[in-house]
Amino acid sequence: VSAPSPDTPTATAGASSEDPLAVALVEEVGASHVLTDADLRAPFETDWTRRFSGTARLVVRPADTAEVVAVLRRCHEAGVPVVPQGGNTGLVGGGVPRGGEVVVSLSRLDELGEVDRQASQVTAGAGVSLATLRAHAAEAGLNYPVDFAARDSATVGGMVATNAGGIRVLRYGATRSQVVGIEAVTVDGRVVSRMAGLVKDNAGYDLAALLTGSEGTLAVITRARLRLVPSFGERVVALVAVEDIDAAQRLLAQVRAGAPSLEAAEVFFAEGLALVLRHAGGITPFATDHPVYLLLECAAHRDPTEELADALGEAAEVLDVAVATDGPSRARLWSLRESHTEAINAEGIPIKLDVSLPADAMVTFVERVHTVVAEVAWSARAILFGHLGDGNLHVNVLGADPDGHEVDDAVLRLTVQLGGSISAEHGIGQAKLDWLPLYREATDLELTGSIKQALDPAGLLNPGVLVPRPARAGHRPP
Ligand code: MLT
Ligand code: ZN
Repeated sequence: VSAPSPDTPTATAGASSEDPLAVALVEEVGASHVLTDADLRAPFETDWTRRFSGTARLVVRPADTAEVVAVLRRCHEAGVPVVPQGGNTGLVGGGVPRGGEVVVSLSRLDELGEVDRQASQVTAGAGVSLATLRAHAAEAGLNYPVDFAARDSATVGGMVATNAGGIRVLRYGATRSQVVGIEAVTVDGRVVSRMAGLVKDNAGYDLAALLTGSEGTLAVITRARLRLVPSFGERVVALVAVEDIDAAQRLLAQVRAGAPSLEAAEVFFAEGLALVLRHAGGITPFATDHPVYLLLECAAHRDPTEELADALGEAAEVLDVAVATDGPSRARLWSLRESHTEAINAEGIPIKLDVSLPADAMVTFVERVHTVVAEVAWSARAILFGHLGDGNLHVNVLGADPDGHEVDDAVLRLTVQLGGSISAEHGIGQAKLDWLPLYREATDLELTGSIKQALDPAGLLNPGVLVPRPARAGHRPP
């Protein structure tokens, strides 16, 4: 997925001198990194889906932690809310302004430390892209295990702030499982740093774990110390065609039990594949269409093909299978799954839901979700894909009004009824905020409010994202 990439502006693109806050920020970071001009602000004001956009007061691009401190102090003194932004690949409107905020872009914090092979860790600035981080680890013979299609644009700060998941959570966990240290700046410009890289450190609250997934509402993350894992040189990908989601789940349970080298188990459906073939190109390896596709990847130091083949065995669920071991063939199978996001966007502005479900509710959800969508938006269609190994489905609805809320409401209510979560990996952002009280109990939301109040008493960090405003806690969505 390629996101709009905020290019470095030219020196002539600086701030207008009319806004006193802009003048103050120019003193801190230089005129070329304070963007007040509408054209220059634009790439930072709309999210990747195009569903969420707002006008920023200005965009500021600090170069390092010291400049982030200075920027936050100035905004805090002025009582102006800020929206931290990484690569702007978020899908829930959590990194774009609602109106009038200062967008603090962290993309210039792109320092990347030397890989510590002894500890199997690396320190990365908030602005380092996922692709750069992964390439850096690979050069040292190691692997940064979180990965997903927006790898060229997504950045470390945003990934930590959203606890990004992706395609290898099944084996390695999401971003929180990789974070062994964090550096962040509080709303009033104090630095909190836990960067020693101690794997075991029970000295009090785990602030790194708390800030991971806090979506820019508690502090601005400037650096992270990240765990690296062994790099497996031998990989096999199998695209398995099955009859339905029930068959996909049964087969996956069998492979999980039989193939410890399994590291990805993704699912997509005939409708999604058709969109991918139409918009992104590629070719299906099968002579005929099938209802559901399960993409499996195993990785190990020794060729895991036999292990995967044994695990699949003679399973009756397998209607057809394509196997790839060399890099280009594996990439071709992966692109059928990874191109879903862009292919769907090419059809229109989707309503993107990202739910997780208990294993025993998955079949019911898949059976009912199309009906509940059709009941509220007769002309809409739901495209499903996602990370079956994590019980995580992405429900992308096309043909419905992206400004409406009926589809979100219908799908999220079904999810909660079935015991699932309203956000598996994309976060709450603005998009799911109204439904948080449907999912989290009142006491849970009160504690969330207390944490927010302790770290950001004036509510200046990413207001309108993740934390329901006090008056709305306990409020039920329409
Ligand atoms: C994915 O799994 O491809 C990402 O979460 C992006 C998306 O949901 O569109
Ligand atoms: Zn995903």
